[in-house]
Parts: sequence; structure tokens; C-alpha cells
Amino acid sequence: MTSATHNPVWDLPIRIFHWCLLPGIGFMWWTGETGRMEWHSYCAYGLICLVVSRIVWGFIGSYHARFFHFLVGPKRIIQYIREPGEVTGHNPLGALSTIALLGLLLAQGLSGLFSVDDASFEGPLAYIADGDFIDTATEWHEVNWSLLQAFIALHLLAIAFYQFKRRQRLIQVMWFGSSETRQGAEPAKSSLLALVVLAAAAGCLWLAIAMAPEPPRWY
Ligand code: HEM
Ligand code: HEM
Repeated sequence: MTSATHNPVWDLPIRIFHWCLLPGIGFMWWTGETGRMEWHSYCAYGLICLVVSRIVWGFIGSYHARFFHFLVGPKRIIQYIREPGEVTGHNPLGALSTIALLGLLLAQGLSGLFSVDDASFEGPLAYIADGDFIDTATEWHEVNWSLLQAFIALHLLAIAFYQFKRRQRLIQVMWFGSSETRQGAEPAKSSLLALVVLAAAAGCLWLAIAMAPEPPRWY
């Protein structure tokens, strides 16, 4: 009797990171639109730490998480568009989308730290910079959000296309972490290492916030 082989693709840290984004972004949207700024900022700190840790994991993480293994040059991208096949991990277009989404998520979080709203909330780093910078960051927070929404919509359409039209089981692989059909890579790196990276990111963010100057008093 033969049993299906499970080739490791997405390690646990990548999957936890990914599936936290869905409720996380939904919550940020709701709190941002309804002005629940305390909750908005706490959830944002969690997301910033997750995104920064994912970027670090892109250098030291498991095989398919590492940028050097999935980022390819224009030649390979064009070749993939001409002859698309099934790829273990991100395909060349998925790789571009990953970079765009990670970049936009980071920009959203960082611009938020310097943003102010029209009521009484200020991002914790707003008063490191001058008024012009705060205005630019606040504006960018809004523009970047529109870009992020567009890229998330594109991401969902692309996933639906590969999943249902091309019949590639991307969602199952992102959920279970392994593929029964594709060749796997080296074993996953320790999730404990990812936890250390996350704790370091949280420590740095906490230090930056704790050291930031207080907002000016208007009275
Ligand atoms: C707020 C919503 C979402 C955001 C911001 C988001 C973001 C991302 C990011 C950044 C990656 C790259 C993962 C990495 O390498 O770290 C990714 C991959 C992926 N996402 Fe999402 N995602 C979202 C929602 C969803 C949903 C709802 C699904 C499906 C039901 C989904 C399915 C996938 C799959 C299957 C991959 C792997 C793609 C591949 O094989 O190349 N995502 N997503
Ligand atoms: C990934 C992280 C973040 C996401 C997805 C996000 C998302 C959003 C959204 C959807 C809005 C409403 C935008 C609109 O009305 O057009 C908003 C507004 C706002 N966010 Fe964030 N945000 C993030 C991080 C942060 C952080 C870290 C802070 C500060 C601690 C922050 C502070 C603000 C402020 C002050 C506003 C109101 C700006 C205004 O009134 O124009 N955000 N954010």
C-alpha cells in the first residue's frame, strides 16, 4: 500500500503569518473607518511585528520562504507567462505579488505610526517629525490603503484563477503547509527561531514607541 507523500512547502510561521492577515486587515479596516483608534493602533502593532518578522524570515527562514529562492529576473517571468506550469512555492508572478503586498503592508503600518486623525488621535511617532511630514504620512496612509485594497483584490482574483481554473491546490497548500503532488524542499526551519524573530521585532517597536516624544499640549 502506498501512502501520499507530504512535501513541505509553507512552514508554520508563514501560514500563521498569512492567515493572521485576513482577520487583521479586516479589523484594521473596520477600526480605521469607524475611528476606533486605540484598537486600530494595538492591532497595527501586531501586524507590523508580523510583517517585519516575515521579511526577516525571507532571509533566514525555510527554503520556500526565502526571497532568494522565489524572486527571479524578468527573463524567467516572461518565460513563465509564455509557458506557465505548476511551481512549488511562489510562481514568478506570485513572487512579485508577495513583494508588493509585503511592501504595501509595511508602508501602511509605518505611515500609520506618523499619522494623526482629525479628532484627537496621534500615531506614537508623529512628534519625532515636523508638521509637513505628519501631513504627508497621514495622506500616504490613506493613498497606500487604496493601493493595498487593489492589490488584495488582485491577489484574491489570482488565487481563485489558479485554484479553480488551473486546478492548482494553492489554498490547501497554504492551509496545510504541504503538497501531495509537488516536489518538496529541505525540512522547515524551527518555529522557535521565528518566535525569537517576532519577539525581537516586538521589542524594537516597543523601544521606538517608548522613546518617542510626547505630543505637544494645546492648552
Ligand atoms: C487580507 C487578505 C490577504 C492578504 C493581505 C494576503 C497576503 C498574502 C501574502 C503577503 C502572501 C505571500 C505569503 C508569504 O510568502 O509570506 C500570500 C500568499 C497566498 N495567499 Fe494570501 N492574503 C490575503 C488573503 C488570502 C485569502 C482569503 C486566500 C484564499 C482563500 C489567500 C490565499 C493565498 C495563497 C494560496 C497564497 C500562496 C500563493 C502561492 O502559492 O504563491 N490569501 N497572501
Ligand atoms: C497594517 C497596518 C494598518 C492598516 C491596514 C491601517 C488601515 C487604516 C485604514 C483603513 C484607515 C481609514 C482610512 C480612510 O479613512 O481612508 C486608517 C486610518 C488611520 N490610521 Fe491606520 N492602518 C494601519 C496602521 C496604523 C498605525 C500603526 C497607526 C498608528 C498607531 C494608524 C493610525 C491611523 C490614523 C491616525 C488614521 C486616521 C487618518 C485620518 O483621519 O486621515 N494606522 N488606517
